[in-house]
Amino acid sequence: MPLENLIRFPALGDWGGTEYASYYVPLQEWNAQLMDDLCAQDSCDFVVSVGDNFYETGVKDIGDKRWEVVYENVYGRWSFRENLKKLDFFTIMGNHDHRGNQTAQLMYAQQTESKWTFPHWWYTIEENKGPDLSVKLFMIDTMITRKAKEIQKLPDYDTYDYFTEQYKWLDQELEKCEATYCIVVGHHPMYSIGVHGPQQDLIDNLQPLLLKHKVDAYLSGHDHMLMHYDHQDVHYFISGMGEIRNPNKKHLNDPRNPPYMYHSIMRDENLGLTFFEASEEKLDVKFISGKGNVHYTATIWKKTAV
Ligand SMILES: [Fe+2]
Repeated sequence: MPLENLIRFPALGDWGGTEYASYYVPLQEWNAQLMDDLCAQDSCDFVVSVGDNFYETGVKDIGDKRWEVVYENVYGRWSFRENLKKLDFFTIMGNHDHRGNQTAQLMYAQQTESKWTFPHWWYTIEENKGPDLSVKLFMIDTMITRKAKEIQKLPDYDTYDYFTEQYKWLDQELEKCEATYCIVVGHHPMYSIGVHGPQQDLIDNLQPLLLKHKVDAYLSGHDHMLMHYDHQDVHYFISGMGEIRNPNKKHLNDPRNPPYMYHSIMRDENLGLTFFEASEEKLDVKFISGKGNVHYTATIWKKTAV
């Protein structure tokens, strides 16, 4: 099938440079180049970033040097990567982003010609390729789901219940999702064998919605590895190897984790990412190393109406 008839996008998190000037980390280049290669000849529709865009403490403002050296020069409008730089770059906030100027990450999307696309703390991405193929992604802020202390700095926090509003929005939007594939995207993983492990707040406050609405997948980052779980008819993916890999399996025996289907630190392969490719019949999620080798493919078959 011609690639333009599919819906294709790379997904990557935890690529946010370093706190030390000049903030840029050369290892970011591996996955940036991989995305550019995978998206050759206009074959991708957009990029999904799952947060931790700027280490360690987010951005100061929309004029912060990090925009240029960590984002625009590598993935964005000032990159030499002609395929990647054309794509809308949809993102959400990670825990490190919340340590800085949170609103600046929304304002940057509004006030520049950048491909950086971030309209609200939670929002949807919808892509359609004819009557029988569509993908809808529900981008959420898991720091809000976790009621992390940093969200107290969000605008009007004292009078606006971010937790309840995001939950209500997600519940209502998932109820209406008639796309071929419905995917929720947040920064923190539901399950993980890595350093951070499974997130109890998400198991309590997010997973019931995923199950209730029978979503196809939940995509996250946060632990710097690639993982796949297939549990209770929901596929859980981690794509957190944006600039570093962490082989620590601290939560390997955590009883909250279901058995994982795939885990890779791609030790000799220069990082890696997940790549989504949707057709009318199935959604393939590929785990691809920085050298371009496909290590594993998870196939999600289109759910048939009952
Ligand atoms: Fe994180």
